[in-house]
Amino acid sequence: MASRLQRIIDSLDRVDVRILRVIETQLSRYYYVPLEVIERKAGIPGSRLGKSLLKLTSMKLVKRSLGSSSGYTLTYLGLDVLALWSLIRRGVLVRVGERIGVGKEGDVYLVEMPGGGLAVAKLHREGRTSFSKIKRVRSSVAFIDRKQWFRIAKLLGEREFKVLVRLHEKGAWVPEPIALDRHCVVQEYREGVELYRVRELPVDEAHTLLRGLLETLRIAYTSVGVVHGDLSEYNVLYEGGGRGVIIDWPQYVYREEDGAEELLLRDIRYLTSYFRRRFGIDIDIEDALGYVRGVKSAPP
Ligand SMILES: Nc1ncnc2c1ncn2[C@@H]1O[C@H](COP(=O)(O)OP(=O)(O)O)[C@@H](O)[C@H]1O
Ligand SMILES: [Mg+2]
Repeated sequence: MASRLQRIIDSLDRVDVRILRVIETQLSRYYYVPLEVIERKAGIPGSRLGKSLLKLTSMKLVKRSLGSSSGYTLTYLGLDVLALWSLIRRGVLVRVGERIGVGKEGDVYLVEMPGGGLAVAKLHREGRTSFSKIKRVRSSVAFIDRKQWFRIAKLLGEREFKVLVRLHEKGAWVPEPIALDRHCVVQEYREGVELYRVRELPVDEAHTLLRGLLETLRIAYTSVGVVHGDLSEYNVLYEGGGRGVIIDWPQYVYREEDGAEELLLRDIRYLTSYFRRRFGIDIDIEDALGYVRGVKSAPP
């Protein structure tokens, strides 16, 4: 499974990677890192440097400034490649496969781990997350301009990874997190279909699934203290036999935060009404809410 990303990674040599890393590091100081700075920090002679920068530019891993003074900045593709390259070097992955899923930006990849097991690498984007999703995260970042994009993407990756660790150890129905590098979250591959693609289900299976999902929301709320905040039939993978997982957690909010209760209500209303419309499961929203909030002990 030699995907486009894997081919890019394979074509890079040590010098190319060193240059990418120098540019990445210097982004905290420059938007376009001046050529002299790259040359000095990377310690690579001019002609070799020029050749490599030409290659990196044509592969769209870096972008050259327009205008007279030469400088280079990292693209999202460059950041993706750095993260995946580093995960391979760390021994987390052996290769990057094809893009999967319906992600708005399509940046969830199937990846192979040592030993042949499959995982998923989700490359976060500042812009992939809908505005309302990101607004809540943004409030913790003072101001936003292009320089901040990578920082937000990394923050989203970190949030998703950490919350998955906590949810998974509490037994919630979520993919097991495997590793984090920059803005890239590696997680267990779950072979399911997005719930929106499931046309019909036997009533008992649909009921088991809904209960399981509500139990996961209950664990999230009562044991981890978070609300998903973007629950829909697109963020549930159905695995058959009444089992599934809830994915896509970076926009979670803590239950103490402003608006958390409204989001919880929204998530639960959305889920219960979807199951009612699609599968004919009629459960009371107040019962579901009480169960998730830990007020009621019996599942609806
Ligand atoms: N752990 C996983 N196992 C299998 N497929 C996944 C997994 N995580 C994500 N996907 C696939 O990638 C798609 C997008 O992932 P998601 O986390 O919802 O990101 P977003 O909606 O922000 O693009 C999902 O709809 C699903 O098809
Ligand atoms: Mg999603």
